[in-house]
Amino acid sequence: MTDWKTRTKLVHDGIRRSQYGEMAEALFLTQGFVYPSAEAAEQRFIASGPDEFIYARYGNPTTRMFEDRMAAIEGTEDAFACASGMAAINGALMCQVKSGDHIVAARQMFGSCLHVLKVLSGFGVEVTLIDGADLANWQAAVRPDTKICFFESVSNPGLEVIDIAGVAKIAHAVGASVVVDNAFASPIFSRAVDLGADVVVYSATKHIDGGGRVLGGVVCGTQEFIRGPLETYVKHTGGAMSPFHAWILLSGLQTLDLRVRAQAASAAAVASSAAGHEKLARAIYPGLMDHPQHALAMEQMGSGGTMLCLDFKGGKEAAFRFLNALQIVSISNNLGDAKSIATHPATTTHKNLTDEDRATIGITPGLVRISMGIEDTSDLIADVMGAIAAA
Ligand SMILES: Cc1ncc(COP(=O)(O)O)c(C=O)c1O
Repeated sequence: MTDWKTRTKLVHDGIRRSQYGEMAEALFLTQGFVYPSAEAAEQRFIASGPDEFIYARYGNPTTRMFEDRMAAIEGTEDAFACASGMAAINGALMCQVKSGDHIVAARQMFGSCLHVLKVLSGFGVEVTLIDGADLANWQAAVRPDTKICFFESVSNPGLEVIDIAGVAKIAHAVGASVVVDNAFASPIFSRAVDLGADVVVYSATKHIDGGGRVLGGVVCGTQEFIRGPLETYVKHTGGAMSPFHAWILLSGLQTLDLRVRAQAASAAAVASSAAGHEKLARAIYPGLMDHPQHALAMEQMGSGGTMLCLDFKGGKEAAFRFLNALQIVSISNNLGDAKSIATHPATTTHKNLTDEDRATIGITPGLVRISMGIEDTSDLIADVMGAIAAA
């Protein structure tokens, strides 16, 4: 590990150059590798050296560059690249539990993550869902047989901030591992490992790509965990990342810091402009003083992040009028993209939940989630404020 600052690591860390000394990261679009002899093949299956690969589902030079760069910026010993954020989350949870084990998870969570927990319940893993914003709930839910405490550090879509250090203290007291989905915080506003997270997972599809081009995910943790249970599970169950996607994501990483900071600055400016508008029940942004976890967000992330939500008093009709009036911000459901995106969670990303479950995690019919892009801040303010007026 180097002592370079994040921006330098994002450009240089993990690079492996071939005999040609190429400047840019090379794309090794190969699934297999040739061995000089039968004995060398046998040896490689016993123990592979750092530049000895077997099959791309196990590892590939381009994918390994992405993994090494991610581990360097997250501050973990190692990382494993997965086919998507969900492959990463599925792997990080599945590889640690067996029937009879117990998981505590925050219920304010992306729908697909809740589905993975449901699948685990079907296999005899007991899952306790709690309101993760209140540490007392974690304390009440953990047990000696709790294996994992799992949560999104900033929840999708309600932007509740969960106290990583607080949960880690409670989890570690019973020997449980802390798995944090850090997609909304992004690696730029992450101090997850310093705060006690054992495993940090990203959907690389979001800020890491930053151009909405490819799916990807990554699990960051200790070498023992990553090259042990996690790699074993993912490589045998097929969730590994394509080398082509790793190559795209390596170029995404180079500009991650610049993009995410610009996005967060615009998110803060738009949230401040919208706050208190007569058409809104709430403008939700962790960087606003009235956010219930504002102080925690500042301590944990040093920023309010790139995401904000607007909750329209006029419900679904007003939210749809707002969405349809936007000129720059696109209606879509990815996030972390260079292009600003607005989503209506109740009818799209979270439509499979019951009305009651949506209400429990703050997804009202009037709620719109906005992922701020890197467009000019004044254009974004004008676009959002104009559309609010039209709502
Ligand atoms: C918080 C969160 N975690 C995980 C995922 C899943 O990521 P992917 O779409 O790359 O599988 C998403 C996707 O929207 C998400 O918002």
